[in-house]
Amino acid sequence: MAKLSVSDLDVRGQRVFVRVDFNVPLEEKDGRMVITDETRIRETLPTLQLLISKGARVILASHLGRPDGQIVPSMSLAPVAVRLSELLGHPVRFVESCVGPQAAAAAAALQPGDVALLENVRFHAGEEANDPAFAEELAAVADTYVNDAFGTAHRAHASTEGVARVVARRGGRCASGLLIARELQFLGDELENPARPFVVILGGAKVSDKIQVIDRLIEKADAILIGGAMAYTFKLALGAKVGLSLVEKDKTHVALEALAKAKQRGIRFVIPSDNIVATPVDSGKKDKKGRPKMNLTNPRVNTGDNIPDTEEGVDIGPATSAAYAEILAGAKTILWNGPMGIFEDPRFAEGTFAVAKAVAAATAKGAKSIIGGGDSVKAINKAGLGSQVTFMSTGGGASLEFLEGQVLPGVAALQDK
Ligand code: 3PG
Ligand code: MG
Repeated sequence: MAKLSVSDLDVRGQRVFVRVDFNVPLEEKDGRMVITDETRIRETLPTLQLLISKGARVILASHLGRPDGQIVPSMSLAPVAVRLSELLGHPVRFVESCVGPQAAAAAAALQPGDVALLENVRFHAGEEANDPAFAEELAAVADTYVNDAFGTAHRAHASTEGVARVVARRGGRCASGLLIARELQFLGDELENPARPFVVILGGAKVSDKIQVIDRLIEKADAILIGGAMAYTFKLALGAKVGLSLVEKDKTHVALEALAKAKQRGIRFVIPSDNIVATPVDSGKKDKKGRPKMNLTNPRVNTGDNIPDTEEGVDIGPATSAAYAEILAGAKTILWNGPMGIFEDPRFAEGTFAVAKAVAAATAKGAKSIIGGGDSVKAINKAGLGSQVTFMSTGGGASLEFLEGQVLPGVAALQDK
């Protein structure tokens, strides 16, 4: 059943507690934290503008990073309040604590149409623990609850789930924001009965991360194109040698089951026919986890079935890129989740960018293209094609769990229409 929407509510004069996902990437520059991607802030503007125009007293809450219940100044939402105010063209008051007297005083001072942003909810351990007492504290400033934090909807935390229960128990309303509604429309409804051919591109490191999505999409797609390191697990399962490629040796049976299911359903399931490979060489340095840091040297195209023992697959090859582009050219609906290679390194980004270009070209010819969040959104933005696809999800883990068919606790907590 459809969820109650913020657009259904009359909230004039009410204190509306809005959970947003302002977990944006930040970088330190000249002693200040600077936002490096503001997509998640921009995407909440329609909901916030609606609430302002309805005369609500708007109280925003979000997490940022993983401060683990401690106050970590570099994870403060203060820079987000500044940027949000600029984007809204409307003052945003920043409140230095999300609960207690400061939050209460800020909420009491709000006039209809005013907006306040509370400090990082994860500065309190009760947030991630979904502690009922902490949820009560948050709810102290809420007459109505709106959740627009799609990126965090897979977490059952106090501000995404617990507060909704408190507000509902008091007879208040709990509605979805416009961003959550759009995410559910594109990642859900639009893929239920897609215009065909429906082509799915799946990349990323691990088969085990994506197998539930693969399993579910085999039922719906006409073609599934595989890339990223998970392709090497498929290759290994089919008896090829994968050299030093990232691979899940214990997941080959999972790969074979997916291939068998695709065959039984008569859909195209395509594994790269060629790859870019490189030779890893120990740099003498260690990474963050203390493992030896490898330099990837001597990149080249490998057209054979096998990858030599001393080399590692790092991207799909040109023949695969061309084959994928041709399949995508005929698509009417496209879903893309996960890069084709190590696109952060320009030497290994061509496969991912070729797919991004092919998705944009198909969209220009009328296909509906849906980008399933996280790294694929980063990649399409890096390719400069973000504005040329139909929809980009703001969720990483959340969109993946939703595509797997899981119930998102942050959505389940909202009231039905
Ligand atoms: C995200 O960016 O994945 C969401 O904001 C959720 O954050 P989390 O993965 O730290 O729970
Ligand atoms: Mg995450």
